[in-house]
Amino acid sequence: MYILGINAYHGDASAAIIRDGRLIAAAEEERFNRFKHCAGFPAQAIKYCLTAAGISIEQVDHIGISRNPAANLRKKVMFAAKKAARGSGLLGGAAEPSETSGGQSGFKRLSERLASVAKVRSFKDDLANALGVPKEAIRAELHHVEHHRAHLASCFFVSPFERAGMLSIDGFGDFVSTMWGVGEGTKFEVLGQIEYPHSTGIVYTATTQFIGFPWYGDEGKVMGLAPYGQPRFMDEFRDIIRTEEGGKFTLNLDYFRHHTDGVEMSWDEGSPVIGTIFSKAYAKTFGEPRQPGEPLTDRERDIAASLQLRLEEVGFHILNHLHEVTGLTDLGLAGGVALNSVMNGKILLNTPFKRVYVQPAAGDNGTSLGVCYYIYNQILSESRGEVMEGAYTGPEFSNEEIRAVLEQYGLEYETYSDRELTQRAARDIAEGAVLGWFQGRMEFGPRALGNRSIVVDPRRADMKEILNHRIKKREPFRPFAPSILEEHTGEYFEQTHPAPTMLMVYQIRPEKRALIPAVTHVDGSGRLQTVTPELNPRYYQLIADFHALTGVPVVLNTSFNENEPIVCTPQHAIDCFLKTRMDVLYLGNYALRRAQNSVA
Ligand SMILES: [Fe+2]
Repeated sequence: MYILGINAYHGDASAAIIRDGRLIAAAEEERFNRFKHCAGFPAQAIKYCLTAAGISIEQVDHIGISRNPAANLRKKVMFAAKKAARGSGLLGGAAEPSETSGGQSGFKRLSERLASVAKVRSFKDDLANALGVPKEAIRAELHHVEHHRAHLASCFFVSPFERAGMLSIDGFGDFVSTMWGVGEGTKFEVLGQIEYPHSTGIVYTATTQFIGFPWYGDEGKVMGLAPYGQPRFMDEFRDIIRTEEGGKFTLNLDYFRHHTDGVEMSWDEGSPVIGTIFSKAYAKTFGEPRQPGEPLTDRERDIAASLQLRLEEVGFHILNHLHEVTGLTDLGLAGGVALNSVMNGKILLNTPFKRVYVQPAAGDNGTSLGVCYYIYNQILSESRGEVMEGAYTGPEFSNEEIRAVLEQYGLEYETYSDRELTQRAARDIAEGAVLGWFQGRMEFGPRALGNRSIVVDPRRADMKEILNHRIKKREPFRPFAPSILEEHTGEYFEQTHPAPTMLMVYQIRPEKRALIPAVTHVDGSGRLQTVTPELNPRYYQLIADFHALTGVPVVLNTSFNENEPIVCTPQHAIDCFLKTRMDVLYLGNYALRRAQNSVA
């Protein structure tokens, strides 16, 4: 039985496919069409999934989309009616929140809303168009899965847990920002939810905009900025998000525009763009907003620190409630806010939970995968079996395919055996090279996990500037992350719970910080990836060889891209190598060196 899951008309559009419960493939559209966080319809991701499964659309039994306009309809109507009574008017002003998520929110006027609903209804047409087949070719049963149920399914059914508490937390999706529940076997039950217009994701995005980072996905920058500041605005943020009994919270809505004026968003087929969410109350409390490009001051750093700390407080408030009502110590986590790896890394220290599974594609990308398992387990009651430990679900290229591309480019390359490959690459890294590492299946979700990575020596304090200068061009305050051989985690970090998909930030042991300065953040933390030979044998061997050479079982791992989506194909990787100042690029068993190829 084949099930195809789709996240469409949301940021990070994606597709996933499963066969008899086994995860065959999952990928984001942005990797194919090269628009970061691409919304719209994931035509190429769907085609890739069908190709990876070796089938055509006619053979798919179920297709699901992670959006259900009928979900919470009564609440939506009530909310719109209340607004109308207050004079907004259904047609004249803000009509209803759009179903957005991943840290976004907004209203659309009624006409836009209807267009949006119609879009979901026409998703069979869009699918047929995208694949160039008649609509009749799609014989699968279609499912609309409510947004947060798709998130929850993505962090429970592929988790290692038989029973677990579950939390989905984001901007908004299907009128809800936060949903928690309990999963057991092939079923989960929703225990509570927070509805529009209250949302932690909205607060994070609004504040991110206020301190001058306006783009979709910029929230991570603010998380990186936070350790530079002092949380001197806690009273303000405790007023902006107020916690209540029963794991609930509400926003002080004076600070936001999403529930009154509407927030413009264009999703089109390209990168999403969001209008201003914060209201004038932010300026009254904090002063004028920082414009993008203006120098950062202590005020922005302190706002970031306060926001981050308040998010953590609210997160633990919900999780402690979830533990109280379930008594469980295993937790599944998903939703755009679950990409906050600083918060995630503190869960074990601040709640009774003992094991945490974060869906690797915790943002809306992962809802396509969640949809598959919602249908397979929750609806069809089929038994579980897939544990998604890593995120290596994307396209891969054989050595033959890679060599053909190298020949096409007319570049000089070296060929290595498996054993030589990692040894030579480890030596390059230890000698200070900026090294591209393109291997195996592309990762699903925002993190490069050693298959589409740039890898450098973490012992060199200047590596951050070298990377930024030569390739990444990121804000200097943003940290770079370490990959560590899992068995050495406790020597270097204060916590040892595995973090195979780089969604946990732990404190680095004080005595080790000077040893790996390029991956030690200003507060002594690191967003680690724990690497095992089972999950990624070649990447494990690379780090093991670096360890043998240097005595340090850690490398710096950053995503293989230059201000664009992470590379997907050998062509993308070579293009990135040629236009940046990378020293060497390993693709499969081949290596390209800058010195041997007359490129600038
Ligand atoms: Fe979401």
